[in-house]
Amino acid sequence: MTFMKAVKSIAIAALALVMAAPAGAAEDSSRGIELLNSLGCKGCHRINGQGGTLGPSLDGVGKRLDEQRIRRQLLDPKSANPGSLMPSFGHLPEKDINTLVDYLGDLK
Ligand code: HEC
Repeated sequence: MTFMKAVKSIAIAALALVMAAPAGAAEDSSRGIELLNSLGCKGCHRINGQGGTLGPSLDGVGKRLDEQRIRRQLLDPKSANPGSLMPSFGHLPEKDINTLVDYLGDLK
């Protein structure tokens, strides 16, 4: 390998590291927001000043509920409230449930 080629590949590797690190967390929260929008959660829930009022506001929900409780709400809303108007999201891929739970759990 020539010297310039080596320098170039080291630079590319360093750039890849810099880009990979913070992107993970940012990607998770933007995917979380994307899911909230596409699944219609905001039809019933207010978040960041936007959305409906049939359900409680999701601002700060991570302070009120632990992640296990949030997961249960998504998979089986009737377990906490038999008369719940919230539909179950148990049909979603587990990956999407995990993204939502992580995102909501971090709203503190
Ligand atoms: C048809 C209305 C409706 C939709 C759509 C809906 N919810 Fe709900 N949600 C509710 C209601 C009402 C409650 C209050 C508790 C109950 O009755 O189950 C609730 C409770 C919750 C809670 C517990 C909040 C707390 O502070 O106790 C979370 C978390 C939640 N919903 C997340 C979501 C997410 C995420 C989505 C979209 C994937 C969603 N909800 C879609 C109506 C809805």
